[in-house]
Amino acid sequence: MKKIIERINAQTSKVDEETIDALIQQLKPEMQNIKKVNKYETEYGFVRCPFDDHALSTVQACIKRKKKLNPTLCVVIGIGGSNLGTLAVYEALRGMLHNQITREIKLYFAETVDSDYIHDLYYLVETALKEGDNVIINVVSKSGTTTETIANFEIFLLLLKKWKQDDYHRYVVATTNKNSKLWNLAQQEQFTCLEIPQKVGGRFSVFSAVGLFPLGLIGVDIKELLDGARAITSVCVADDKKNIAARGAATLYKHYCNGIAIHDVFLFSVALEGIGKWYRQLIGESLGKEQTKSGEIKPTGILPTVSIGSTDLHSMAQLYLSGPNNRMTTFISVEKNNTSMTIPDFNDFEELVSNIQDKPLSLLMNAIIKGTQEAYKKNDRPFVSVVIPQKNAYYIGQLLQYFMIETVYLAYLLDVNPFDQPGVERYKQETRKILAHG
Ligand code: PA5
Repeated sequence: MKKIIERINAQTSKVDEETIDALIQQLKPEMQNIKKVNKYETEYGFVRCPFDDHALSTVQACIKRKKKLNPTLCVVIGIGGSNLGTLAVYEALRGMLHNQITREIKLYFAETVDSDYIHDLYYLVETALKEGDNVIINVVSKSGTTTETIANFEIFLLLLKKWKQDDYHRYVVATTNKNSKLWNLAQQEQFTCLEIPQKVGGRFSVFSAVGLFPLGLIGVDIKELLDGARAITSVCVADDKKNIAARGAATLYKHYCNGIAIHDVFLFSVALEGIGKWYRQLIGESLGKEQTKSGEIKPTGILPTVSIGSTDLHSMAQLYLSGPNNRMTTFISVEKNNTSMTIPDFNDFEELVSNIQDKPLSLLMNAIIKGTQEAYKKNDRPFVSVVIPQKNAYYIGQLLQYFMIETVYLAYLLDVNPFDQPGVERYKQETRKILAHG
């Protein structure tokens, strides 16, 4: 049976129900803004992406065409909002070793301009091309002018031209704003173009062609992903206590008002690290602002940090449990794993660690999660816990949509515009100036 992801441990969040209720009331106008979205007319339009059947069928048709080329590998070239969502879903659903294991299409990402990494990826792609394999290059840039993305794209386009002289254009998909400079160039070159709706911002674009094309190409059930996002949307706009997005925003806001401006997302699954990084951008860029919406200068922001359980318990738990009590934590865990592994029953190992022989690894992980949360309680560290029934497209879709709506509510309470990123633009302009002077 399909469930809705749960957000539990209200009492450990250290925000009382009365406060939460009052803040949920304050959020009502913003809930209305989200509820009434049925077009891409405003920046709230991201909420519509999972409901956009036309966009889905356009992407599905494109996937069908590109699959006819029998690609063995796809490289997504993009950065920030143009690749973090895709990477998050990919890792969550396919795991960290997918490319080593799969017999299907492999997926790689080119984001920053790290010469050594790009060199290795170039080598890998060229090896595939030399062996006669086909490779899809998916360049993703909303603006179409991001320096890193265009530089990396030029490198891989040249490679494609070398090996597919006559029909290289068939292997390129450009995902961008309609009529961006990249769009126009792609049209001239006869690349396939997929449109990012103008009003859907980069970090809110995972359910547009940005995420759907590469994910669908490698076989992710993108319809299920969108179904999940749709299912949670109605929960997240309801004016009641079950609205997990409003509750989450209220909790984080209350702590922020009390001087707790760090939010640690503690994910107990290696494959969910990408979601942590995607969320970091979402919170970092949406809430980190110099001014309020009315123009008052008031630097605002919550520092998002990402921890992976149980790995980071062996590096960060000392600080988290004994250092300053200055962060709110959201634990994210998975109720049911997709596979199961059992610890063998070697008698002499009982001496090393007892009570683990012949038990599933998931039981051990659950004990660690419970143990960690008990320690947080004893040390008075505020936290909530989000439980995903399973790492599948449906629940990952729910999780991402929940986080995006929660962020918009949080921005509303903090009185900042969640949809702009003047700071990011500033670094881009300064870099261009430096490049112009050689
Ligand atoms: O969220 C954002 O707007 C940014 O992080 C962008 O996604 C990032 O800078 C990449 O921009 P673009 O998609 O225009 O290449």
